[in-house]
Amino acid sequence: MKIAITGKGGVGKTTLAALLAQAYADRGMQVLAVDADPAPCLAGALGFPPELRAKLHPISEMDELIEERTGAKPGSIGGFFTLNPRVDDIPERFSVVHRGVRLLEMGSVDTGGSGCICPESAMLKTLFTHLLFRKDEMLILDMYAGVEHLGRATVDFVDAMLVVVEPTRRSLGTAAQIKKLANDLGLTRLWLVGNKIRNDEEERFLQENTPGLPLLGVLYADLAVQEADRLGVAVYDYVPQLKQKAHEMAEKLSAVVQRA
Ligand SMILES: Nc1ncnc2c1ncn2[C@@H]1O[C@H](COP(=O)(O)OP(=O)(O)OP(=O)(O)O)[C@@H](O)[C@H]1O
Ligand SMILES: [Mg+2]
Repeated sequence: MKIAITGKGGVGKTTLAALLAQAYADRGMQVLAVDADPAPCLAGALGFPPELRAKLHPISEMDELIEERTGAKPGSIGGFFTLNPRVDDIPERFSVVHRGVRLLEMGSVDTGGSGCICPESAMLKTLFTHLLFRKDEMLILDMYAGVEHLGRATVDFVDAMLVVVEPTRRSLGTAAQIKKLANDLGLTRLWLVGNKIRNDEEERFLQENTPGLPLLGVLYADLAVQEADRLGVAVYDYVPQLKQKAHEMAEKLSAVVQRA
């Protein structure tokens, strides 16, 4: 199963990605979590220990690797380089595993077809498509804010796109934009996840204002989420109610995806 997590900046994409990744891993699945944020922080949310985090580097910043594979130095303009470099060994070679979750940091990804045609984007696009083609049991993509990154491969291979929203009109507005863009590209397997919900009224607000997307579930606001971050431990371990929600959501998601 391949899950992409999107939504407005700061709504809780990384928190949800970490919760679902650990929930599926604890259910015995092989999980590959991909941090596609230019400023990676999924390792922190997953509580990866410092010595493992030290081994992680975003692929987009590996200049030597990019040059070796594409034939051109990142940042170079003009000249020739390959548009489909070898990437099949990258997920295993440059990821780290902790408690059943394999984590790969991509760095900034431009998969939307726009943007520069340069060695680093060729590398990331090829890698991204490769990840979507792989037969991983569970791929969880923590996408960065915005909707520009939705490309053909995302649409064709993602089983579920989760759009995280806070109970605010602004984040619901972004969700509506994501839905439109996804639908225009032919992706209709989208679910809404509410986060930072403080009371029934906020939950109702979400239900009444969803941009026509089914609600997969909600996560409650909890100051312990920030505390976990400060202490460098996994939200999953530190906030029991969110761990439980993560399992409920993981189960429901597997069921709805199988039906879709
Ligand atoms: N349920 C929650 N209760 C309280 N705080 C939360 C909750 N979920 C997330 N947060 C806090 O909100 C902030 C943003 O969360 P997170 O990093 O998961 O969002 P994001 O969508 O990945 O952000 P970005 O767009 O920057 O990648 C963090 O400080 C996090 O601790
Ligand atoms: Mg994030």
